[in-house]
Amino acid sequence: MKKICTVVGARPQFIKLAVVSRVLRKRFREVLVHTGQHYDYNMSDVFFEEMDVPKPDYNLGVSGGSHGSMTGQMLIKIEEILLAERPDMLLVFGDTNSTLAAALAAVKLHIPVCHVEAGGRLGTLDNPEEVNRIVTDHVSALRLACTASGMDFLRREGLEERSYLTGDPMYDAFRYYTERLDGTELSELRDFDGKPLALPEKFYYMTCHRQENTDTDEKLEQIFQAMEALDAPTVYPVHPRNHDRAERLVRERGFRNILLSRPVGYQCSISLVNRAQKIVTDSGGLQREAFFAGKPCVTVFDYVAWPETMVNSCNQLAKPDKVDILEKLSAPVSFDPAYQPFGDGHSGEKIVEKIGEFLQ
Ligand code: UD1
Ligand code: UDP
Repeated sequence: MKKICTVVGARPQFIKLAVVSRVLRKRFREVLVHTGQHYDYNMSDVFFEEMDVPKPDYNLGVSGGSHGSMTGQMLIKIEEILLAERPDMLLVFGDTNSTLAAALAAVKLHIPVCHVEAGGRLGTLDNPEEVNRIVTDHVSALRLACTASGMDFLRREGLEERSYLTGDPMYDAFRYYTERLDGTELSELRDFDGKPLALPEKFYYMTCHRQENTDTDEKLEQIFQAMEALDAPTVYPVHPRNHDRAERLVRERGFRNILLSRPVGYQCSISLVNRAQKIVTDSGGLQREAFFAGKPCVTVFDYVAWPETMVNSCNQLAKPDKVDILEKLSAPVSFDPAYQPFGDGHSGEKIVEKIGEFLQ
């Protein structure tokens, strides 16, 4: 049986892993490496538990620090594992530092790399994830794109050979788990002291963690000002990156309409997506989930990450500016249920099929 080494490290990768690993393990032996990039229980273990992902074979315990230091430490440790395991292929997802480190370690050892979620481009190297996406795509032997726009970007960079459209594993996960929600998942909502948070009947769902929006008070405060002005509370599970800043701003400015929560598990998160009036986010995953659920979304970011969602105002970009966010939130929106550019909910199978063809 051929051996695939899969490397993950961050929250969105555990979700994609759950979709792909389930199918992959029927045909291949999978060696699973967790870099340790995300390590809090509710940023890591909770996903493995609730989505039935096998425990990683290795955990490298690398997290925090500068991009270079984190990526460099991961690179060294992943190389050791690849040398010991000698897999037939390395599998990576998305655009985190864990993705980049694993891809570089493998390509230097002549181990073919398969990149799932290939071809996403914003058009700026100022975004740290863009660097990771470009380098990973260019060193990969097999590139699997979620959408037609991803395939277009790959073509423009001369990477059309061994690039395929498979659909989005986040869509598979969303469809699969949405059917299984029963409301009990919402009990995971907890304030920063760990006390249960009652979900208001009408609410907005927000996540905001990008370096670009959270590294200073100004931008996050503008986003909070917008949410504070809305007609219903905002539920905001806070990424550990900006836990302290969010807590301080809400306390010092006396915001009453923003309900801070600890990060929640996947099923709780998509339950919030399905129940919310509208979504405000800077997350690549959450803006797609809003689209899957037919919920209007405002993405606080300068660049379009998922062009397919930017139709009929379903997903609109806003500056981290109170007036702009409120204006975008009030725009009329219409969803066409027949338009589904993220595949058919079976990308996991297609991804494994392409890996199988490649390794034949
Ligand atoms: C990373 C990804 C980003 C993705 C996000 C998903 C990169 C360059 N970026 O950003 O694309 O959207 O994950 O959530 O890889 N921290 C904790 N506990 C944790 C995890 C992180 O305290 O469980 C702290 C870290 O120590 C660090 C900070 O949060 O100080 C930021 O974490 P890091 O992994 O560097 O980047 P993310 O913002 O999570
Ligand atoms: N998510 C979650 N718990 C939270 C916030 C988000 O499970 O507290 C889910 C969200 O529904 C989506 C994924 O995490 O499935 C997105 O991950 P994240 O925003 O961390 O990364 P990005 O998509 O920006 O790379």
